[in-house]
Amino acid sequence: MTAADEPRGAPPTHVAADGMHAISAETRATVDVVLDYARRRAVYEDIPLDKPLTPRDLSRLASNSITASGIGARRATALFENVLAPACVTTDHPGYLSFIPSAPTKAAIAFDLVVSASSVYGGSWMEGSGAVYAENEVLHWLAAEFGLPHGAGGVFMQGGTIGNLSALVTARDAARRRNHEAGRPDPARWAVLCSAEAHSSIKSAAAVMDVDVIGAAPDEDGRLRGPAVERALEENAGAVFAVVATGGTTNFGIIDDIASVAAATKARDVWLHVDGAYGLAAMLVERMRADFAGVELADSLIVDPHKWLFAPFDACALIYRDPAGARLAHTQTAEYLDTLTETADWNPSDLGIQLTRRARGLPLWFSLATHGTDLYRAAIDHGITIARQIADEITAREGLSLVREPQLSVVVFRREGWTAADYQSWSDRLLEDQVAFVVPSSHRGETVLRFAIISPLTTLETLTAILDTLT
Ligand SMILES: Cc1ncc(COP(=O)(O)O)c(C=O)c1O
Repeated sequence: MTAADEPRGAPPTHVAADGMHAISAETRATVDVVLDYARRRAVYEDIPLDKPLTPRDLSRLASNSITASGIGARRATALFENVLAPACVTTDHPGYLSFIPSAPTKAAIAFDLVVSASSVYGGSWMEGSGAVYAENEVLHWLAAEFGLPHGAGGVFMQGGTIGNLSALVTARDAARRRNHEAGRPDPARWAVLCSAEAHSSIKSAAAVMDVDVIGAAPDEDGRLRGPAVERALEENAGAVFAVVATGGTTNFGIIDDIASVAAATKARDVWLHVDGAYGLAAMLVERMRADFAGVELADSLIVDPHKWLFAPFDACALIYRDPAGARLAHTQTAEYLDTLTETADWNPSDLGIQLTRRARGLPLWFSLATHGTDLYRAAIDHGITIARQIADEITAREGLSLVREPQLSVVVFRREGWTAADYQSWSDRLLEDQVAFVVPSSHRGETVLRFAIISPLTTLETLTAILDTLT
């Protein structure tokens, strides 16, 4: 038989099936090469900001890495280190201030490697009890901080979008069951109610669920309050299965008046979900607790460790007041899963939209266990403090003005007289010069600038140096 006659994809006879898995000099060397690079990368003193390349540049610099016999760990690592990694903006750079930055602790970054090295299955107690136990320690600590009752519990999901979707699916399921038990018909269309300032993921979840989104008007200060929710619930009686209050909006860091929203939902037996993906971490800071009053009444909530809890991508802590409802909504059943579902074990997969899951809460667990909670409170406090300070600096500078006073660690401001194109070219130049990554945002049609501060390595000096470039 000639090579041309061989079936496509058939391995050459000299290639061993276990060549990638067996413990050998070669596989050990591969692990060493990768871990050496990871160690270097994790503790760079002068972390580079880096920037995207065009598809054309990348295909010139990085194509043809996939070959029949492999290019080897050394070359593949070098390709990543020298070409691919510099084409990714470093989201934990102190000058990364766009969207919601990340700033994982060194402990969390390092332990993320352990999660991979251990091949932990985080979906079921049977397979991952140790990991699930540790994740639950974190979830119970968070639930207690937010004032949820004993018995509250949840799961680390991929991100806030999936966390919100999973919570809303649980909420609708609960509403359907209540209707069924009461002999009431379901509405022609279900709806979720939220403020116009709510995150785009709520609309996305509604689209996936084929439900409507009813916008309740926030007050002039951007906060959603009970009376607006009450009015909207009256007008849409029976259709709304959940109200979403936001604990720190993405664009401004505004915290809805959760207590009055909760009062409106409790009066009508409607599910209250708090989207605290970005901001709820601030409740760990004592002086901020009052701003979140009412969170303790939530039926479900989320907070993303990959945002302000200093964990690597990607993790969302989804917590239910009573996880039993989530289990009813989400548990997958099949003959091959009977051994898992016919027990009373705590199976994280049953609480959201997923089956196989990485134990993605472990990096946060390890870092919390290592450092203790006080350092977390201090690191979060830093962001709130310097947001306040840079807001004062903006107010004091000629030609700059705040769009709103910051409530958390997002500062939105304008440069008088600039067009959208001015903002964009300034932002492009800032990245080109490797100073900072600050993309323009917009508010009510006006282009604005926005600092989102997460990293404790972002200092007032970092921010004032950026203001100095706005001439
Ligand atoms: C308030 C809020 N909710 C939800 C999300 C979505 O989270 P993720 O990007 O992790 O899906 C974000 C993201 O920034 C957010 O700020």
